[in-house]
Amino acid sequence: MKYQAIIFDLDGVIVHTDEFHYQAWKKIADKIGAPFDRNINERLRGVSRMASLEIILSGTDASFSETEKQMLAEEKNNEYRNLLATMSPKDVPKETLKTLSALKEMGVKLAIGSSSKNARYILERVGLIGEFDAISDGNNITHSKPDPEVFLKAAQFLCLESAACVVVEDAEAGIDAAVAGGFASAGIGSAAKYPKCTYSLNVLSDLIGFIR
Ligand code: BG6
Ligand code: MG
Repeated sequence: MKYQAIIFDLDGVIVHTDEFHYQAWKKIADKIGAPFDRNINERLRGVSRMASLEIILSGTDASFSETEKQMLAEEKNNEYRNLLATMSPKDVPKETLKTLSALKEMGVKLAIGSSSKNARYILERVGLIGEFDAISDGNNITHSKPDPEVFLKAAQFLCLESAACVVVEDAEAGIDAAVAGGFASAGIGSAAKYPKCTYSLNVLSDLIGFIR
């Protein structure tokens, strides 16, 4: 086997919570009159909550105090958590289940490397919390992607070197983080065509062929 572990991003890779992030930010942006569409949303992929807000606010002339920014971020998170509360195991794509179980059978370790502070809540809601050997998320990092910290922590939790792991990402910022941390990377969705990816996936299970 070429690799001993796979570190998965969560939002937009394991489940489609990336759509919920978009809907929640859209509500906030509309409320404050900031331009926001799916193109701008692409720049928020993998980026922390506060950094995402700064990107949205950069499109307006209005200025907001730190307290107002904190309130907007909290409001977005409340909207987002209301959407997350509707999730159940039915929201896990079959492709995800099939890929995780094939990788387990191959004896590969599985980890999460997500910028989100809601990662564990999401995994609990969809019934996947017990499927990973390690979870590194927004609560155990000080620097968000494209900084490699979240993936380096995941590798550390697994007691493995970066070279033994592949990072799977839908965000260009996430692929940049993988490269910076010395990891091989597999891009899917929005990141599949990013030239810095080691591997390009059409569907998640394509991974199985690449890691043998
Ligand atoms: C990442 C998402 O997984 O988590 C970003 O791709 C999001 O869009 C980031 O901003 C932080 O998420 P949360 O749930 O902590 O606000
Ligand atoms: Mg993602």
